[in-house]
Amino acid sequence: MVIELPRVWAGQVLRARVDLHTFTGNLTALREASAPQSLGLVVKANAYGHGAVPVARAANDSGISDLYVATVGEALELRHHGIPGRVTLFLFESAAEVREASEAGVAVVCGSLDQLEQVVSAGARGPVLVVLEVDSGMARNGVPTSEVSALGAAACRGQRAGRIHVVEVMSHLARADEPESTTTMEQTHLFLAALESLSEVGLRDVATSLANSAGVMFHSFDPAITSARVGLAAYGITPAGTELPYVRPVMTLEAPVLSVKAIPAGTGVSYGHTWIAPQDTLIAVVGGGYADGVPRVNGLSVGIGGRACPVRGTVNMDQFMVEVSPGTRRGDVAVIIGTDGEFRQTVASIATIAGRSPYEVLTAIGGRTRLTYV
Ligand SMILES: Cc1ncc(COP(=O)(O)O)c(C=O)c1O
Repeated sequence: MVIELPRVWAGQVLRARVDLHTFTGNLTALREASAPQSLGLVVKANAYGHGAVPVARAANDSGISDLYVATVGEALELRHHGIPGRVTLFLFESAAEVREASEAGVAVVCGSLDQLEQVVSAGARGPVLVVLEVDSGMARNGVPTSEVSALGAAACRGQRAGRIHVVEVMSHLARADEPESTTTMEQTHLFLAALESLSEVGLRDVATSLANSAGVMFHSFDPAITSARVGLAAYGITPAGTELPYVRPVMTLEAPVLSVKAIPAGTGVSYGHTWIAPQDTLIAVVGGGYADGVPRVNGLSVGIGGRACPVRGTVNMDQFMVEVSPGTRRGDVAVIIGTDGEFRQTVASIATIAGRSPYEVLTAIGGRTRLTYV
């Protein structure tokens, strides 16, 4: 079955094919790897470029009901499309956002006394679902461990007043992708101590989450930590320089060959003529550019007709040029992420070439990209 989202653009640009069977297979494998913790899925940034709604629906269908997003718009999009389960919002700014989230049954993360106070006094109709965040070593969101008791006490008062209901306590790992680093162990100890402090002020029997993908891959956790929040690995990609044999990439990315022409030796290609043809060369113009997430870097290739074809000259906003073999025609498919005969390119290999993280490569794909699902 192929489900296609409505076309929101016109013209030839990138086509991303998202394999939901592979995706749910990854979820099953990660669920086993993180057991006995339960698994939550991070679907922010349009499910890392894979399409938040179809991905969330597939996750729901395979038994995952805890979803995490970054913005209230992302949360409401899920609800608008009827996605049930617990949706948790990492970031909010205003009381109006809290009310909108609460109205949609979305939990909000409070990582400071100020945020908690804003939520308590937001004027939401029912109790707002709240996730408390502890900063165990990321220096990002979350109360420092010295303020955990105060946050917990304030949360208990908010609960007694019927303004909030605490559904989870979370923290986030900074260096889980470095198995040799002691930081994850230190963060875990601090988080467990924070849970003790919360218990002392009366917050007990609440779900807790700490691990991201790398946490699940490389570490095991105390049973007091009840769940993990994975993103990248669920989409079949592992943090730079790491491998996980039991997950497979979910997305393939293709682009159309728009034209093919022969250029004589000595011809400069693309802006700045950074590549000059050393001999008579066949050049194909491929649709899709840096505005669609194709990195504007040297060293990329695409697969056409089962062969690797190097990108020549700089990548443009909507198109780029590649050197091809005779027989390549307008209408042929250029594989950017995926396999084509002898050619294989992954998000991880593009990230290495581009000097970026796999997260940046993935989330840059979007805009005019057409997502289809198998
Ligand atoms: C708070 C939080 N939890 C979990 C995740 C998931 O991380 P990963 O994609 O590495 O699994 C993220 C991603 O950035 C995050 O910000």
